[in-house]
Amino acid sequence: MAFRFNFSFGEDAAEADDEPELQLGTPQRERAAEAAAQCRDATPSEQPLRLKAAKEHHVPKDANQILENKTMEMVAGLYSVKISTVEKQLLDGLHGEDLVSKSVLAHSDLVPGVYEGGLKVWECTFDLLGYCSETEMQFADKTVLDLGCGAGLLGIVALRGKAKEVHFQDYNSTVIEEVTLPNTVANCRVDGDEGKISKPPSKRLKKAKCSLDLLAKCRFFSGEWSKVSQLLLSGSKPFSKYDLILTSETIYNPDYYGALHDALSQLLAEHGRVYLASKAHYFGVGGGVPLFEKFIEERNVFRTNTVKIIDKGLKRFIIEMAFKYSS
Ligand SMILES: C[S@@+](CC[C@H](N)C(=O)[O-])C[C@H]1O[C@@H](n2cnc3c(N)ncnc32)[C@H](O)[C@@H]1O
Repeated sequence: MAFRFNFSFGEDAAEADDEPELQLGTPQRERAAEAAAQCRDATPSEQPLRLKAAKEHHVPKDANQILENKTMEMVAGLYSVKISTVEKQLLDGLHGEDLVSKSVLAHSDLVPGVYEGGLKVWECTFDLLGYCSETEMQFADKTVLDLGCGAGLLGIVALRGKAKEVHFQDYNSTVIEEVTLPNTVANCRVDGDEGKISKPPSKRLKKAKCSLDLLAKCRFFSGEWSKVSQLLLSGSKPFSKYDLILTSETIYNPDYYGALHDALSQLLAEHGRVYLASKAHYFGVGGGVPLFEKFIEERNVFRTNTVKIIDKGLKRFIIEMAFKYSS
């Protein structure tokens, strides 16, 4: 079911449920073709988006404003913006990264260095959410990073589990602005009278207000991993390394393994843990679990432990990582 904040429930949902495939109009097609040609023609050192700069995204004073015109649905028991609606809105060409046109033109959810797939919720997010719930993973008083967050559902679960601080990172600023931030605000709503986090789905949602205390625990970043690490480690705000890093479907491209490994080793606390969810193989991109584990072994910084295998359809894994020297 989908619904729209500040609009009546139901009608919009019914309308939006059976979405036709996205079609590009002529201006969108021309813009996307031009951008694709720029990327293709640039030499590797010139490729403008390869090392996308890091940016921190701040929550506006009136956080509820983020939810205006957003159509929401329930995903894994959490509020999540309806992606087909966001995609349609993003086709207006007014959003700097123009991700949707580029993705449609490339016939792919991944356009390396341009769009890294964060608009949709990928399968392994559900695996990792399931693992967190089965193992009753403890978030209380922990500092948590949802790395390559997309919709940010993993970070939101940590936030609702009373984490001390939760940071969200995605490659694309559009994903943070249009998906991660609205999802976080929607799931930070507290029932007016009792001050409790409203348990979705809640008929009282319209009465609910965003908890500024919960939101104050969150920070949002976009950019390439090495740039985001740099921003965190040398930024003006105090930064304490993460007790937990949750990351789903982030090892599909072997070209990024160096940056990912370095970000994990720079940002994880001495006795922290990484929980990484991934498919065994990513056909057409080349990455996957065996290749990533080999990379980790060669770097000799982390030890890995497969904590869950999901053997339905394409085999999927949840891997725990810790520093080799840690307890
Ligand atoms: C396939 S999406 C998965 C999104 C989300 N974790 C999920 O499971 O639904 C991969 C995510 O990894 C992030 N990512 C991939 N390569 C990256 C890079 N080189 N630098 C920064 N972020 C990157 C992107 O932000 C993207 O959202």
